[in-house]
Amino acid sequence: PSLSEAFRGHPVYLHHKHPDFNSLQKLPDSYAWTTQPDNHIHPNSTVPVIDFNHPNAPNLVRHACRTWGVFQLISHGVPISLFARMHKATLALFSLPLHQKLKAARSPDAVSGYGRARISSFFPKLMWSECFTIIDSPLQLFLHLWPQHYAIYCDIVMEYQAAMEKLAAKLMCLVLASLGISKEDIKWAGPRGEFDGACAALHLNSYPSCPDPDRAMGLAAHTDSTLLTILHQNNVNGLQVLKEGEGWVAVPPLPGGLVINVGDLLHILSNGLYPSVVHRVRVNRTRQRFSVAYLYGPPTNVEISPHVKLVGPTRPALYRSVTWNEYLGTKAKHFNKALSSVRLSE
Ligand code: SIN
Ligand code: FE2
Repeated sequence: PSLSEAFRGHPVYLHHKHPDFNSLQKLPDSYAWTTQPDNHIHPNSTVPVIDFNHPNAPNLVRHACRTWGVFQLISHGVPISLFARMHKATLALFSLPLHQKLKAARSPDAVSGYGRARISSFFPKLMWSECFTIIDSPLQLFLHLWPQHYAIYCDIVMEYQAAMEKLAAKLMCLVLASLGISKEDIKWAGPRGEFDGACAALHLNSYPSCPDPDRAMGLAAHTDSTLLTILHQNNVNGLQVLKEGEGWVAVPPLPGGLVINVGDLLHILSNGLYPSVVHRVRVNRTRQRFSVAYLYGPPTNVEISPHVKLVGPTRPALYRSVTWNEYLGTKAKHFNKALSSVRLSE
């Protein structure tokens, strides 16, 4: 089964009429999070920034993943001009009139397309954001949207996907090294650590400016169901991560930097050593925020389990093995309790 079939298990997203955010002067009740989660941000705590080429990178990654489940990556080799072109394309995409965007709306039996955040159905209130999900080729999606210009936009998205695929494989080698695992220890890594069978989805997110940001929520708190997520944000704040013992910490955009999240599958693979990071997005009154998230995971039929090198008499396996497909199905049912539902009893 393909990744898109697995994503299909999710409930329908467009169950409410999709709003034209730009036309709303007042926050509708359906968007007002009355049980406002903690607006406090920890003022002087910062997510680690790691230089890919630092000689000590594996240890820095290990420390960041153990204590934070997230880090910012610099010197990763992806040219800053590609992010600039990608964000320009993303801006153009979200600037299309609503009726045009709705031509690419996700239907219950499709995965790629336009709609609300995938996690919307788990929350009683709606989120102040819109999202395009792209799996594999963007061609079908863009043909509908831009009969005149689809080719340029397809080229940019495909170039971005290719750059992320290459970076994700290099990152996997680094993250595995940080766990004391070599690529030879992972069957699907391939002879040169190219991770050829890996699957991925691209999420383009837009968070319009909001008339009442303190009561609104851009994206509610969640963990990603991936091995890793590689995120690029435009230069607008909003991303926050939950740090144990400290609370919410802002992740300011770094020019050319990428946010790397530990996802639930890496949490399982690392036998709980690297926690998947809880994160959310807040919005603001004046500036539209964009992000591009590359959700990266194993071939859908590969079983992920705590790696044998991380299991021993003093540290028994904490999770049972699970494929990405199966895990997505579990997440669609249990959401926040998905990880504990694949946990083995001690
Ligand atoms: C996400 O968590 O999928 C997106 C986060 C962001 O927009 O920064
Ligand atoms: Fe996320």
